[in-house]
Amino acid sequence: MQNTAPLLELNDGHSMPQLGFGTYSIHDVDLLGEAIESGYRLLDTATRYENEAEVGRAIAQASVPRDELFVTTKLAGRDHGRENVRPALQASLERLGLDQVDLYLIHWPLPNVGKFVETWEALVDLREAGLARSIGVSNFLPEHLDAIVGATGVAPAVNQVELHPYFPQAAQRQADASRGTVTQSWSPLGRGTNLLESPVLRSIGEKYGLGPGQVVLRWHTQIGAAPIPKSATPERIRTNLSIFDVTLDEAAMNDIAALETGVRVGGDPAVHEEF
Ligand SMILES: NC(=O)c1ccc[n+]([C@@H]2O[C@H](COP(=O)([O-])OP(=O)(O)OC[C@H]3O[C@@H](n4cnc5c(N)ncnc54)[C@H](OP(=O)(O)O)[C@@H]3O)[C@@H](O)[C@H]2O)c1
Repeated sequence: MQNTAPLLELNDGHSMPQLGFGTYSIHDVDLLGEAIESGYRLLDTATRYENEAEVGRAIAQASVPRDELFVTTKLAGRDHGRENVRPALQASLERLGLDQVDLYLIHWPLPNVGKFVETWEALVDLREAGLARSIGVSNFLPEHLDAIVGATGVAPAVNQVELHPYFPQAAQRQADASRGTVTQSWSPLGRGTNLLESPVLRSIGEKYGLGPGQVVLRWHTQIGAAPIPKSATPERIRTNLSIFDVTLDEAAMNDIAALETGVRVGGDPAVHEEF
């Protein structure tokens, strides 16, 4: 059984595991370490999660070398603005105990604050300075992508957005792909909804010998997205990664597509603000 995720090539020549571990609300260093030992090579954290220090400790204690891990963190809303970006990443690196992150994301565009373009310009500088190997964004709508690419000529390597079968984001995925940007899926299991109770997912799972969560995660990877499921349950941590030995057929993919409701579980990036 394959227990690591395949790599996706990014538009800057680097690569990223297609499935990673979401760490929101996890502060248990042993649990984070268990994810690494189970085969996860991508850890997704953020300044706002206030767990970068714990993620860093798990990395330091892991049997897997640092250069085999892919660490993502994100710039908080309060740090938008050209002069704030470098100190913000330096503080994240200090908490993580690292000298470089593999991916640095602007967490939200905050269009009403109006500083995401200059913030992106500063991320481009950080990449050139070697503090972030790849740079990207999160929750950027197509118009936000247009603004940053127009100003810098640099398209984000990744756009991390809410994405699950209830909210499959076809237009956003197309907008990302047309810029060479990988779409990464947050709340890939539809946290807080009844998605995983769906009889459709259960019957597909029975056919393939998978649980509903595994079916959903395989769907993400087959549409070309990069999910980052979170679990604090050791058994789920392991099984969420064990999906790459099966391929869902077209009928199953169509049945999952038919679950779309168009309803978000999280904030609308056009108006959502968090600092
Ligand atoms: N960029 C952004 O704005 C943004 C926003 C939200 C999230 N994120 C990132 O995306 C990651 C994942 O999103 P998320 O945490 O919101 O939601 P999620 O991964 O969709 O769902 C997590 C929930 O699903 C449960 N779960 C996990 N695996 C399961 C399985 N196989 N079967 C049944 N239930 C299962 C977990 O429970 P247990 O823990 O009890 O197992 C947890 O309650 C976050 O951790 C974070 O890294 C980013």
